[in-house]
Amino acid sequence: MLIRDERLDDHEAVRSLHRRAFGGAHGDVVAGLVDALRRDDPATSSASSTASSMASPVASFVAEEAGDVVGHVMFSRCLLDAPRRLVEVASLSPLAVDPRQQRRGVGSALIHHGLRDLDKRGVPLVFLEGDPRYYSRAGFRPAVEHGFRKPSLRIPDAAFQVVMLSGYEPWMAGTFVYSDTFWRLDCVGLRDEST
Ligand SMILES: CC(C)(COP(=O)(O)OP(=O)(O)OC[C@H]1O[C@@H](n2cnc3c(N)ncnc32)[C@H](O)[C@@H]1OP(=O)(O)O)[C@@H](O)C(=O)NCCC(=O)NCCS
Repeated sequence: MLIRDERLDDHEAVRSLHRRAFGGAHGDVVAGLVDALRRDDPATSSASSTASSMASPVASFVAEEAGDVVGHVMFSRCLLDAPRRLVEVASLSPLAVDPRQQRRGVGSALIHHGLRDLDKRGVPLVFLEGDPRYYSRAGFRPAVEHGFRKPSLRIPDAAFQVVMLSGYEPWMAGTFVYSDTFWRLDCVGLRDEST
């Protein structure tokens, strides 16, 4: 299995992978989120930021096996609203592995590859929402316990996780702020459809 940067000609395979891994309407939403995150990449828009720059705000990696895309992970630029200033941090979302290829270490390999890459670029923090039983294996910790505030009350504390990379400094505490794309597509937290 090879982990490599996603290429333009992987986009359709990546969409299809998310549809299969997440399934149903959720699969379509996630595939749409990936496309929107690429499109809304601040590096390709005219928007300027007051925060320090990440070399490349979006990092997208695929796992390839026998010429097929069997896994994908995306990291995109978000902000931490720290007392001193806004800090550019990354969100890990989404992550998916082909249902036929799960439980073989593909997801873990994608996460580790991505974290190494972001660490080299000086990204100090990576946040995500997910199952702590899975992500704690990759070094993610409960973010609330480390001085970070959730972007939405709808996210359970245990699901809101962070990994601190070598660029992290202790003053970097505060509220994690998703990029507009996550809000526009209503991809923050889970909605309670019973209310
Ligand atoms: C979650 C996912 C990416 C894991 O990929 P993977 O390649 O199977 O993961 P790995 O092989 O690295 O790790 C597999 C281990 O994690 C466990 N695991 C997977 N999802 C888990 C979860 N939600 N909670 C707890 N453990 C989980 C598996 O049981 C397995 O355990 P084992 O090693 O003891 O057998 C994959 O199951 C997937 O694509 N799921 C659908 C999409 C999804 O939910 N993405 C994550 C959104 S936060």
